[in-house]
Amino acid sequence: MDLSEAVKTRRSVRRFSNQPVEEEKLQTLLEAVRMSPSWANRQCWRFVVVRDQKTREAVSELSYVEAFFAPKGYKVNPAKKGLAEAPVVVVACADPTESGVLWDQPYYMTDIGIASQTLMLTAHSLGLGSVFVGVFDDKKMRELLGIPEAIKIVGLFPVGYPQDNTVKEGPPRKQLNEIVHYEKWK
Ligand SMILES: Cc1cc2nc3c(=O)[nH]c(=O)nc-3n(C[C@H](O)[C@H](O)[C@H](O)COP(=O)(O)O)c2cc1C
Repeated sequence: MDLSEAVKTRRSVRRFSNQPVEEEKLQTLLEAVRMSPSWANRQCWRFVVVRDQKTREAVSELSYVEAFFAPKGYKVNPAKKGLAEAPVVVVACADPTESGVLWDQPYYMTDIGIASQTLMLTAHSLGLGSVFVGVFDDKKMRELLGIPEAIKIVGLFPVGYPQDNTVKEGPPRKQLNEIVHYEKWK
């Protein structure tokens, strides 16, 4: 699959079959992530790869944050089932001291964002699915996984074979004329 096809056809996958993810594919995925660009090549990312089913179920239970979801009318995080179903969950973390700060803006989120896109596109190109899960109970998640206070947890990524392989259109995108200015901001 070439890159433009991967970009066009990648969708957030939230339901997974019970087909295991081959160790070789998991390593290919992690190797690709490792090659992502980062602030001054500092590579602030750290990953916790969770395969244990009980731990994945516990991670899934922590994917709901009432203050965030309840006002939107959600009773669960839409990715909750997927976090328990997928044979692998990659927890993407950052050591902010290893990334940069420019005019008060910390860049670790950018570093992890880029690595996340590498992860999701590579997963897709390998026939796997994934989704960025950004909402979870941070305090309980770090207790569960033993993640130190100094390390930020940025996203959870269930990785597995999609339950449904049909190519979906996905939610609509803004038109280019809504998001692009040429020469000057108009
Ligand atoms: C930073 C970030 C956080 C996200 N958090 C969640 C989440 O907690 N739960 C979920 O089901 N999807 C989550 N998503 C997935 C988006 O809803 C999804 O990417 C978007 O609707 C576009 O759909 P597509 O990925 O299929 O193109 C997140 C995506 C990003 C980039």
